[in-house]
Order: sequence, then C-alpha cells, then structure tokens
Amino acid sequence: MANRLAGKVALITGGASGLGAAQAKRFAEEGAKVVIGDLNEEMAKGVVAEIRAAGGDALFIRLDVTDAASWNNAIAAAVEAFGGLTTLSNTAGIIHPGGFEEESIEGWNKMVAVNQTAIFLGIKAAIPELVKSGNGSIINISSLLGMFPTAGNASYCATKAAVRIMSKAAALEFVDRGVRVNTIVPGVMNTPITANVPPDVLKQQTSQIPMGKLGDPIDIANGALFLASDEAKYITGVDLPIDGGWSVGV
Ligand SMILES: NC(=O)c1ccc[n+]([C@@H]2O[C@H](COP(=O)([O-])OP(=O)(O)OC[C@H]3O[C@@H](n4cnc5c(N)ncnc54)[C@H](O)[C@@H]3O)[C@@H](O)[C@H]2O)c1
Repeated sequence: MANRLAGKVALITGGASGLGAAQAKRFAEEGAKVVIGDLNEEMAKGVVAEIRAAGGDALFIRLDVTDAASWNNAIAAAVEAFGGLTTLSNTAGIIHPGGFEEESIEGWNKMVAVNQTAIFLGIKAAIPELVKSGNGSIINISSLLGMFPTAGNASYCATKAAVRIMSKAAALEFVDRGVRVNTIVPGVMNTPITANVPPDVLKQQTSQIPMGKLGDPIDIANGALFLASDEAKYITGVDLPIDGGWSVGV
C-alpha cells in the first residue's frame, strides 16, 4: 500500500467493471477509501472483496446513476461509512452503435440518461460534501469519440462531447470552492464495453492508434489517480486524452 490518496474518500460510478474497477483498485492501493456505485452488485462485490483482500478499504452501494434519489442515497452511504467525500469519478457509461437514421428516440434517451444526465445528477448530489472536504476532485470519463466523432455513433458521440463541456463549466463554477473538475478522454481500451464493438471496426480503430494497440484499464486508472491526488492541485478544467497517441494524429 502506498499513500498518494491517503485521507481521500472516492465514489466511483461504474466501479464494478472495466475502467471503474481499475480505478477502484488503484485508488485503494494508494490509500483511498473507495465506494463503488454500480448496478451490477455481483461484480462490484467481487471488486470490493479484491480490495479488502489486498488490505484496502471499500464498500459497494447500489447506485443507478440516472436516478437523483439513488445518488443522494449513495452519497449518504459514503459519508456514513467513511466520514465524508473528497473524490467523485463519474465512470459509468454505455455505448450502442447507431447513426442518426438507425438510432431510436428510446436509444437516444437512454444514452443521454446514463452518459450525460447522470453526470449532472452526480455533480449536483456530491458537490456539498466535496466543498465541505475543502479539497475536492471530480473526474468525468468522456471518450475520444466525444472529441473526434465517427459516423454511426450519433448519441454516444453527442453525450461524450457534452461530458467534456459540462466538466469545464463545473470547473469554473467550483474553482473558488476548492473543487477541481477534470475529464479523462480514453481512446480504445480493453474492457467489456469494447466487446460490443464489431471486430472489423475494432481492427480499423486499432490501426489508427500510433502505439498500435488498445489501452489497458490501468492506463486510465493511473491518469485518474493523478487527477484525484493533490499532485494535480493546480489542474482543473482539462481534457486528458489517454489513447496511445490517437488524438495527436486525428
Ligand atoms: N472501454 C473503452 O474503450 C472506452 C473508451 C472510451 C470511453 N469509455 C468510457 O469509459 C466508461 C467505462 O467504460 P468501461 O469500458 O469500463 O465499460 P464497462 O461496460 O466495463 O463498465 C461500465 C459500468 O457502468 C455500469 N453502469 C451502466 N449503467 C449504469 C447505471 N445506470 N448506473 C450505475 N452503473 C451503471 C455497468 O454496470 C458497468 O459496471 C464509460 O463511460 C465509457 O463510455 C470506454
């Protein structure tokens, strides 16, 4: 155990799987107390067990990020268990393909609810505790497709672009109350979500990555760790691409 996040209490949405689970484990290794907020209880509890087995401190709370009451419940649980909240990582997200002609209004609304409105709800629910901590940090997970859109992913691209601008607006809004807000912009990472991407699309995407391979969840976790730590105390409102150099060549 190291201590780059000693004294931090971090709520990580989507912490049951992929990029969220990697952050939960990495944050706990560095001394944070971790709350995993997710719908997938079984997988989340597996991550909690791993963290505890490694000597860390973590708990699971069932959180539907699209529901305001569920958010209030999760924040209250974090505060009750660990005495406050210093860090929020909005990582939960979904993807399904669909251009403007194929996407249904139901699909659009679902994508907006999980990828975009959830971040608004999360910031709204967490901000009183983050301000109270005197040293809060919010990390929102966007996507390279929210910076450089591709055809055939209308709602995903739109929601992920919104995440970046919401982060910057929040960064300005809370800068004088001691809360930093930053965005991580992942390229294509090896997680269950990429299993939904057709193999030919994945192959084509990999060929565009200067490093020639997909990223690992730990690459995102290490970036989030830095932004969550006091090492990043002068950084707010940034987009941090972690993408094997992809965005350089777009
Ligand atoms: N994997 C990639 O290549 C990649 C690239 C760019 C951006 N991202 C973004 O990173 C984030 C995490 O992706 P991942 O690859 O780890 O995906 P994942 O599917 O492995 O994990 C997503 C998690 O979000 C949870 N979740 C979904 N809906 C929820 C809800 N309503 N309430 C609470 N939890 C909910 C799921 O249960 C799951 O645990 C997403 O926002 C995704 O858009 C991923």
